[in-house]
Amino acid sequence: MAKNQNLTGEVYYPAPEIVEQVHIQDFEAVHQQAMADLPGFWGQIAAENFEWYAPWEQVLDDSNAPFYKWFVGAKVNLVHNALDRHQRTAIRNKAALIFEGEQGDRRTYTYQQLNHEVCKFASVLRAMGVKKSDRVTIYMGRIPELMIAMLACAKIGAIHSVVYGGFSTEALHDRIEDSASKVLITCDGSRLRGKIIELKKIANEAVDRAGTIQTVICIKRTGQEVEMVPGRDHWYHDLMNLPIADPNAPTEVMDAEDPIFILYTSGTTGKPKAILHTHGGYMVGTATTLKWVFDIKPEDVWWCAADPGWITGHSYIVYSPLVVGATSFMYEGAPTYPYPDRWWHLVARYGITILYTAPTAIRGLMRFGENWPERHDLSSLRLLGSVGEPINPEAWRWYYRVIGREKCPIMDTWWQTETGNFMITPLPSMPLKPGSATRGFPGVEVDVVDEEGNSVPAGEEGYLVIKTPWPAMLRTVYKDPDRYVRQYWSRYAEQGWYLPGDSAKKDEDGYIWVIGRIDDVIKVSGYRLGTAEIESALVSHPAIAEAAVIGVPDELRGNIIKGFCILRQGEEGSERLEKELRDHVGHEIGPIAKPTTVDFVDSLPKTRSGKIMRRVLKAQVLGQDLGDLSTLAD
Ligand code: WT7
Repeated sequence: MAKNQNLTGEVYYPAPEIVEQVHIQDFEAVHQQAMADLPGFWGQIAAENFEWYAPWEQVLDDSNAPFYKWFVGAKVNLVHNALDRHQRTAIRNKAALIFEGEQGDRRTYTYQQLNHEVCKFASVLRAMGVKKSDRVTIYMGRIPELMIAMLACAKIGAIHSVVYGGFSTEALHDRIEDSASKVLITCDGSRLRGKIIELKKIANEAVDRAGTIQTVICIKRTGQEVEMVPGRDHWYHDLMNLPIADPNAPTEVMDAEDPIFILYTSGTTGKPKAILHTHGGYMVGTATTLKWVFDIKPEDVWWCAADPGWITGHSYIVYSPLVVGATSFMYEGAPTYPYPDRWWHLVARYGITILYTAPTAIRGLMRFGENWPERHDLSSLRLLGSVGEPINPEAWRWYYRVIGREKCPIMDTWWQTETGNFMITPLPSMPLKPGSATRGFPGVEVDVVDEEGNSVPAGEEGYLVIKTPWPAMLRTVYKDPDRYVRQYWSRYAEQGWYLPGDSAKKDEDGYIWVIGRIDDVIKVSGYRLGTAEIESALVSHPAIAEAAVIGVPDELRGNIIKGFCILRQGEEGSERLEKELRDHVGHEIGPIAKPTTVDFVDSLPKTRSGKIMRRVLKAQVLGQDLGDLSTLAD
């Protein structure tokens, strides 16, 4: 039952009938239990809910922090828990994945069928020489084969590196090369908004630029003509029809701490870095957070509307829903194609019970008005979720009232590629405040602190920190352990706290309000982009000598990108060049990274050591106080 808690501000208390039937009814009690004995807490969860080939000797080894280890000595494979073990129970014949393509084509995979496909593809990869700890790059649209490819890699102990299908040549090339992948899995094309994105063509360009790929496996999705390089390229459907494609392929026995995947994400400086996650801790963390936060029950139809190419999709489309035996829904295309009610149509048609999406999508759909959702029966929905950036209270209320019919609690989940799973999030039994991700998940101690690490008073802005280790935490930056320590653990090294890179406030009830990034990371429509990547794409254009980009607040997309360029001698700024530069960034990184505007300038504000002061540019654009200019060169 909801206790009378008299919280401050705009509060939405959970209905008693919700609290009565959810997995975790008393957050406070569970959190206290976790904090009293963190290894005991996670050890019990791990023992009761998962199958291990061999048990651990130690739940948490913090002797070499921040290189934490979880479930040390245990043998496991996440895919064993996601697929193999369900073959022995009634879950075998349950839908694991329901898929609808943008054109309206539909497919359903039961747990047994999905397992067969994964086994077959795993044995194909093995036959092609892919071994434990080899890297495989996956570059695809949002279709079931993407999931099959990821699971097949994990099953044989290969490390997948999924590159989001909206990225382009240079972004793909960098990630292939950095990971030294031998195999690339892609498709001929993918569909979005009625158009075809030519993935194979982009992949060919990237593979030609990179030297490491020996084999390309191509899935036929759109059926358009593509260039296949003899000896290097193979059709997926041909390989899957060979006798080597074994529907009963064995699962590789892994150490709990063995990597399951790497995933590139943008950081403060330089090229994107690869975040590394593991089989054991990542499995325990993602499955537990999904089950408790979204209260997954056997009858649910779970729709995480993200792309599998991001951490949200890795954790909450591909891995954890299968581990907990849920039915997931996946939709290939754009929310507004062909009409702005496509999503609401899908909710009604498939009886979606839980919808998890991003504020930018909610704001985008809100623009079209209430008539579109009202045309559809959304009564199957019982829980809603939000992720990727702070949700503005206005969008929250719309989501709550129009989509949730004031019956569905909204789980605003704060987390990161690095954290692997939800970190600051309500549970459905907790009172909600629009715009606040509420409290740390049980066992996660969060705080807002100043430079010295003192907790700041309620209402004041400070740095978000995480004070306790958690099983799904990143283990390192792939091939760059120094960067791992420097980026996340050096600011509060003495205290041993993790620094996510966000600013936040805490209110008098202890609720956390995340404000945004404190570094040179820009969130555009929830996508995480580094200023350095976009600037490097801009200066790779022959007309540009120097470039700086900043994020500027935008009602729809959270932020938009503004670029400032110094031209090379003899070049002239024009509207045409501006368009060319935007397209150039689109071609190098992807359409999401295109600056909305590019200004041509004579100089950029820099420190005496030559670092661009983006803060000053931003203050100028927003007409704000320029702040401390003592380090400015001129
Ligand atoms: C950054 C991480 C993990 C899922 C997708 C994003 C921002 C994420 C929220 C939220 C406020 C949020 C933070 C964080 N962020 N969720 N609920 N409220 N901000 O993963 O691409 O690694 O980005 O997204 O700034 O640091 P990501």
